Amino acid sequence: MLFIKVPKKNAEEVKQRLIAEKLYVRDYKTFHDEEFVYFPVAKEVKGYEAIEMEGEKSAKTKKLREILAEKFSDEEFEDLVTAYDVVGDIAIVEIPEEFENREKEFANALLESNKRLKVVAKKLGKVDTELRIRPLKVIAGENRTETLYTEHGCCMRLDVAKVYFSIRLSHERKRIAGLVKPEENILALFAGVGPFPLVISKKQPTTKIIAIELNPEAVKYMKENIKLNKAKNITAVEGDARKIVLEKYQNFADRILMPLPRSADKFLDVALAGAKDGCIIHIYNFAPIENPYDEIEKKIFDEAKKAGVEVEIVNRKIVRPYAPKIIQVVVDFRVRK
Ligand SMILES: C[S@@+](CC[C@H](N)C(=O)[O-])C[C@H]1O[C@@H](n2cnc3c(N)ncnc32)[C@H](O)[C@@H]1O
Repeated sequence: MLFIKVPKKNAEEVKQRLIAEKLYVRDYKTFHDEEFVYFPVAKEVKGYEAIEMEGEKSAKTKKLREILAEKFSDEEFEDLVTAYDVVGDIAIVEIPEEFENREKEFANALLESNKRLKVVAKKLGKVDTELRIRPLKVIAGENRTETLYTEHGCCMRLDVAKVYFSIRLSHERKRIAGLVKPEENILALFAGVGPFPLVISKKQPTTKIIAIELNPEAVKYMKENIKLNKAKNITAVEGDARKIVLEKYQNFADRILMPLPRSADKFLDVALAGAKDGCIIHIYNFAPIENPYDEIEKKIFDEAKKAGVEVEIVNRKIVRPYAPKIIQVVVDFRVRK
């Protein structure tokens, strides 16, 4: 098996790029030494040393492949396996059209291969553009879409059919929580069921976090999750981030989170209004894999000019692959008022 050797500090970013470019081989385990992470890859990757090694098959995929060996070819299997996520005890699968008549076989094999899974739900139709909810249909296991998910020591109850939730932002939540300092005022815009606020609150309980979310179902779960985690420093506010920040939180924040990658740029004026001098804003965006930061950074500078404030980009990073040739990125910038 071919592996590339990547310095630890770049590992997550390189992994996301490999996945986006379909070079990451999920069937094999990644491993690491003190300085480097070794990723299994489909071919050599420019800029990284490639090493041919035996490698170890990933146990989970191995079992699933064994169960499905007679029913799906290696290629069919790869198509199905790359497209599923697990939230708590629910597997959310994307079944390509050509496999619809065999979806039950795949779903039952998933349950058999991983005893912690209790439900398999399939994605249907389009994601609602504003609340980011995708219709789901349970195709195997227990007939429910509510689950309990744990991340970085926080537990969250949520209904995958009624709220937006992505486990693929877990690294980002840890990164942001690591940047937060004690006693910061934080505006968590587009907060969903509260994953960013909860992970930050656990690490920095003396912060004051205002978590704003439009979807009443998500706010209901966020309030429950605040209680579940005894997170006394988070206030969940239901409503439109624009209205709430402009009415109540101008010049409030030391840090602002904007995880609304399709249209966060439309709220840049709101974030700049909510920022204090020195505030750091984290804005997420979907972008083409080539020059992914150009468009969003231009918008940041344009909005800053309109608002009469100075901004300085302090970090930029690939968060995850999103669609063919489209990635999610984050840009961190400082506001000077
Ligand atoms: C991509 S999701 C992110 C949710 C959450 N931060 C997470 O990581 O799971 C965006 C969220 O923004 C919410 N939303 C969309 N427009 C909004 C607005 N104008 N004001 C507040 N929340 C909004 C959606 O309902 C959705 O829950």
